[in-house]
Amino acid sequence: MIEKLENTYILSTNQNSYVFRITKHGDAESVYYGKKITSIDAHTLIKKQNTLFVNTLYMENDETYGIDGMRFEYSFANRGDSRSVSCILKVGEECMTDFVVKKITENTEYKNSDMPVPRGYDNSLTVKLEDALHPGLIIELWYFIYENTDVLARAVRIQNDSGKQVTIQKLMSAQYDLECAQKELVCFHGAWGRERIRHNVPLCCGKFSGGSHSGMSSAECNPFFIVKEKNTDENVGEAYGFHLVYSASHELAAETDCYRGLRISHGIQSEGFCYALPVNEKFDSPISISTFSACGLNGISYQFSRFINANILPKKQVPIMLNSWEAFYFDINEKKLYALADEAERLGFEGIVIDDGWFLGRNDDTGSLGDWQEDKRKFPLGIAAYAKYLSDKKMQLGIWIEPEMVSEKSNLFLQHPEWVLKTEGARSIVGREQRILDLTNSEVCAFIEASLDRLVEEYGAKYIKWDFNRRFSDIFGSEGSAYFYRYIKQLYLILKRFTFRHENVVIENCASGGGRFDLGMLSYCHVGWVSDNTDSLSRAEIQQGTSYGYPIRTMLNHISASPNQQSKRCSSLKTRSDTAMIGMLGAQLDITALKGEEKEELKRVIEQYKKYRTMLLGASLFRISSDNNFYVWEILSDKGENAIIYLMMDRFLSVSSIPNIKLINLDEDAKYEIRFEGMHFTASGKTLMNGGLVFPQIYQGVRIDNGTLNMTDRSTLLIYLIKKEDR
Ligand code: DGJ
Repeated sequence: MIEKLENTYILSTNQNSYVFRITKHGDAESVYYGKKITSIDAHTLIKKQNTLFVNTLYMENDETYGIDGMRFEYSFANRGDSRSVSCILKVGEECMTDFVVKKITENTEYKNSDMPVPRGYDNSLTVKLEDALHPGLIIELWYFIYENTDVLARAVRIQNDSGKQVTIQKLMSAQYDLECAQKELVCFHGAWGRERIRHNVPLCCGKFSGGSHSGMSSAECNPFFIVKEKNTDENVGEAYGFHLVYSASHELAAETDCYRGLRISHGIQSEGFCYALPVNEKFDSPISISTFSACGLNGISYQFSRFINANILPKKQVPIMLNSWEAFYFDINEKKLYALADEAERLGFEGIVIDDGWFLGRNDDTGSLGDWQEDKRKFPLGIAAYAKYLSDKKMQLGIWIEPEMVSEKSNLFLQHPEWVLKTEGARSIVGREQRILDLTNSEVCAFIEASLDRLVEEYGAKYIKWDFNRRFSDIFGSEGSAYFYRYIKQLYLILKRFTFRHENVVIENCASGGGRFDLGMLSYCHVGWVSDNTDSLSRAEIQQGTSYGYPIRTMLNHISASPNQQSKRCSSLKTRSDTAMIGMLGAQLDITALKGEEKEELKRVIEQYKKYRTMLLGASLFRISSDNNFYVWEILSDKGENAIIYLMMDRFLSVSSIPNIKLINLDEDAKYEIRFEGMHFTASGKTLMNGGLVFPQIYQGVRIDNGTLNMTDRSTLLIYLIKKEDR
């Protein structure tokens, strides 16, 4: 809903309002972002606060218009704002611009964006600014309201009708000038194998700046973050959540000022950015997503979960796939895969993914990327015949591909050395002995599209695992890091066209694990490979970090072998499967080598998962923090009629017990049937939320009977709750 009160605009979702106004001098000024208010409440908020102190700048002939402390909607270079600005342009050879608001329009359609736009917004508002110094140079600030999911999206579009070439040196997708008080930034940094780990950064003075420079959204810093009050915890207190719908180098910044202001901005990484925008062309920023919650960090996760499920992810159920990677690595062949398929069918899997190693001459990671034809020595009967074998068993074929890459040891490189990002004369930088293809070359895009089509049309793949295993070093052209924008724009186009041609094919997004796990890729891919690290303890930490910003539906988890192949840590099949079930379930291990009882256990896991899968697709995960020794998550179905509680105990401690777990968001008047570990009882929502779920004693070396939980290091429990009809 959009309300207008004089020169003030109130953009409201079901629970929140975002307010800004146009000042008498034609700037857009932030007024408020928080719990919902109406135009009546807004009256008091929009009274101009005088922010003019000694030694500050102000507009000519208007000393009440102090610029230094002004909360700008979007800030431009060289206009007196002493904080970091959001937009730096050069017009011809000039650095000066002066953008003034000219027009505001409601509910115009946002057409032909080069960046992915979340579908289904209820309203839009466009603020059009024009450069007083270069008429025809237009900046549009776009606002999109998603009422039901309490999300506001923003984008910036530049239209260059100035008659002069414009160089974009910095263009953030959005700026949020908030009141600082005592806030903290919660960001999700990491590395390969430990992606998206929560970090808290106090915002007391100066500027915190994060992001990536590697050409990808990266495992090192996810483009999702939260800004919260210092005391906000999982369930109580105010917080703002932000996502950038972008998969290349990004930037986020949080800067405090001496006027109690906090400027949050995020967008394309500006270091080295130098984009040439010709006359009569436009430039689209990636979309900025934000939400506000007064119900702590779980509130942010809940709102983003619902938004991403409804407005970002393509709709298609992800099958339960058995992946060949940790089962066989490169030592893959048809014989092993047929045996795997027979056992997989018996255990209830819905498909097999042939991971890396299936194509011409690929026996290790030193060559062959780009030669996307089946290796007849490994597949004498052919992959299409294998797809048929699977489909006769009602199973699907998945194929791994790394379409943006090429190995120097490949036929493709021999034929097209000019297609790769490589600089003659410079010291050569490779990663995993591979090079990145130049997606700004249309021949390369055509080659990639044809290779992808062949997987579907010739080999019969119904599932593509799309990998990306090295970051960028060399780039082409004179525009510096703007190359990454041009690259990713082409990648989105390839994905868009592919998903249009093959709407029934599921795409798994992977980048050396979770190195490009972001809403840009998830706009086209049905699920994301969370991390290469499948060790249950590490995984619980990674899944928990990921859950702050992404729904369960995005997280692909695999049951793998024990000892784990990354950490060498051992864990029970129960721990591995309980942890993998909190997401989209799959596996990667040689199931033909399992013992009989392990096979039966795995079969039961898959059966149980299938019963809960529909619920998990729409469910929200709430972190129930209680004790550092436990991970506890409440996974509540969309309508609240059932829940799964996941509990992992990190270390066994003598003379200890599981703390009572106070659940949240249940129906307090309802009764819930509770089942776990052979136990079965009923409790009211009120009891479960106030007193908590009470556990029997953990086995402590004395005696074990039916009422004692047999738990040790990294043991897990899955507790199932079903709301009963009668109250
Ligand atoms: C990296 C991925 O994260 C793995 O799952 C696997 O597909 C390998 N690449 C294959 O090279």
